[in-house]
Amino acid sequence: MIERIGQIRAEAEAAICAAGTTAGLEELRVRYLGRKAELPNLLRGVAELDPQERGAVGRAANETRQALETLITDRGAQLELGELRERLAGDRVDVTLPATPPAPVGRLHLLTATRREIEDVFCGLGFTVVEGPEVEFVHYNFDALNHDPAHPARARTDTFYVEAPADPHGGEVLLRTHTSPMQIRAMEQQPPPIAIIVPGRVYRRDSDATHTPQFHQIEGLAVGEDVTLADLKGTLLAFAKAIFGDEREIRLRPHFFPFTEPSVEADVSCFMCADADAHAPRCPLCKGTGWLEILGSGMVDPNVLGAVREHGYDPERHQGFAFGLGVERIAMLKHAVPDLRLFYDNDLRFLRQFG
Ligand code: DAH
Repeated sequence: MIERIGQIRAEAEAAICAAGTTAGLEELRVRYLGRKAELPNLLRGVAELDPQERGAVGRAANETRQALETLITDRGAQLELGELRERLAGDRVDVTLPATPPAPVGRLHLLTATRREIEDVFCGLGFTVVEGPEVEFVHYNFDALNHDPAHPARARTDTFYVEAPADPHGGEVLLRTHTSPMQIRAMEQQPPPIAIIVPGRVYRRDSDATHTPQFHQIEGLAVGEDVTLADLKGTLLAFAKAIFGDEREIRLRPHFFPFTEPSVEADVSCFMCADADAHAPRCPLCKGTGWLEILGSGMVDPNVLGAVREHGYDPERHQGFAFGLGVERIAMLKHAVPDLRLFYDNDLRFLRQFG
């Protein structure tokens, strides 16, 4: 009988080691250790054996059962691991694949794309992007920017005033008419040197083919101890080339702004007729002048620096330049958009042409 137990053990061990799947292994467990299997039967019959045989047979059968149980458990663990690996390999999900069906992503509005493009140019030149409030104090919008008390833009016919708690500076509250107030706010926050641009919405009481009550500007400000008009010109030239093409030139014309002295308007050489031929008179874009007005700028007026004197700006020591451009204007020039209102009509036939 001991011999038979040895045979069963050898046969079962060989079969268990050769099992290829957990299901196959389970069949072997039933075959060798199940209720109707030979070994358990044999164990159950041990009591009826001769007393001399009983001890040795019982021990051999028990040992064999334990050995087979352990073997099955170990082999089972191995097989499960292998099967798990196979399942994982088969089910592998690439989370970077696009969803199906692809989600519609739309596109950037031309004004957003233009703003970002301009931001990229100035970031590349070392400027930082800051933003400010659209509801603003008269102090920041006009007073600290050296506007005459009688400046026409202060009129209620030109500017949206809002009812709001009193300004700590004692003035009224309005929707900012330009992004220039952030010149003052930024200088209050950061001592010189400073180089910032300020994108954002601005508001004016105007509405026709070339004016909307709300539009977008980007303000620029660079102040230090030795920032000159030449730096302004170089900066504007780099901007013009990046946006309108490497062949562009710029031209500065004298102008007036309350917060710059001297003030200039900057023109970029017309990219529509310049390349084609010298027949500028027919050019629909520059009307034959060869130049396109792109922005206002100038050297920061000492009075503006004086308004932030207590924040480290000394008009005797510091100087710099500022500029302000209209995002709509740049986008219209660059993409030959004929009517400002197209930006706000949300007509997909227009919007889909860009981006
Ligand atoms: N704030 C002016 C406007 O809205 C634009 C402007 C002109 C900004 C000259 C400037 C500047 O910083 O120097 O018309």
